[in-house]
Amino acid sequence: MNLILMGLPGAGKGTQAEKIVAKYDIPHISTGDMFRAAIKEGTELGLKAKSFMDQGHLVPDEVTIGIVRDRLAKDDCQKGFLLDGFPRTVAQAEALEETLKGMNRKIDFVLNIHVDQQLLIDRLTGRRICKECGATYHLIYNPPKEEGVCPKCGGELYQRADDNEETVANRLEVNIKQTQPLLDFYNNLGYVRTIDGEQEIGKVFEDVDNLLKELV
Ligand code: AP5
Ligand code: ZN
Repeated sequence: MNLILMGLPGAGKGTQAEKIVAKYDIPHISTGDMFRAAIKEGTELGLKAKSFMDQGHLVPDEVTIGIVRDRLAKDDCQKGFLLDGFPRTVAQAEALEETLKGMNRKIDFVLNIHVDQQLLIDRLTGRRICKECGATYHLIYNPPKEEGVCPKCGGELYQRADDNEETVANRLEVNIKQTQPLLDFYNNLGYVRTIDGEQEIGKVFEDVDNLLKELV
């Protein structure tokens, strides 16, 4: 299955991605995770991405498109893929369509997780992530049993650099602007399935899973 997860920052893309790839065994391709890994390693890509991410702006299309194209060419994508946070602009979506055409592949669904803007600020500022395994929690909506400790692996939990209130406000503004043209692009292709992302995490996954069952 070839999937795209769409949704504003904090809509629950990463949370649902974790569940989808665990059940359907396809690679999780998150451009945000790829940039954060590059920043941590201090690579040239990381240096390019950091200033944009710190301000809540998008990394330029030519950089982002290139890393996704390279990633999709890897062997493990033969069985399918889950794109999370890409594409985010119409130019990225057009480039992806072209890449997939060259691979003789096609998107099955664009899963559009919808959450009202007001809820997103809370979700992002309360998010905590495991340093070791990358699992995501929330101080109120999905709290770890012991404060600051990952229940899955015992790793330390941290807050993402761009989850402060000021950067969150910028991220929301930037992404809201891009969303409608992107949805129009994919609606024209008939790929979009909108999911109510305001339900609790397990229920959101149930709705996602009901759609994905059609594909296997
Ligand atoms: P990226 O890492 O993709 O971040 P984002 O889109 O801002 O989305 P998030 O990861 O913040 O949110 P999410 O939807 O995954 O939510 P989560 O599941 O964690 O991008 C970061 C930056 O990288 C961008 O700003 C940009 O600079 C750059 N970038 C990345 N891709 C790019 C691209 N294609 N082009 C250009 N630049 C790009 O959930 C959030 C919180 O809510 C968690 O605490 C979670 O536990 C909780 N939660 C989740 N679901 C629920 C629920 N149903 N109920 C209650 N709480 C919930
Ligand atoms: Zn962990």
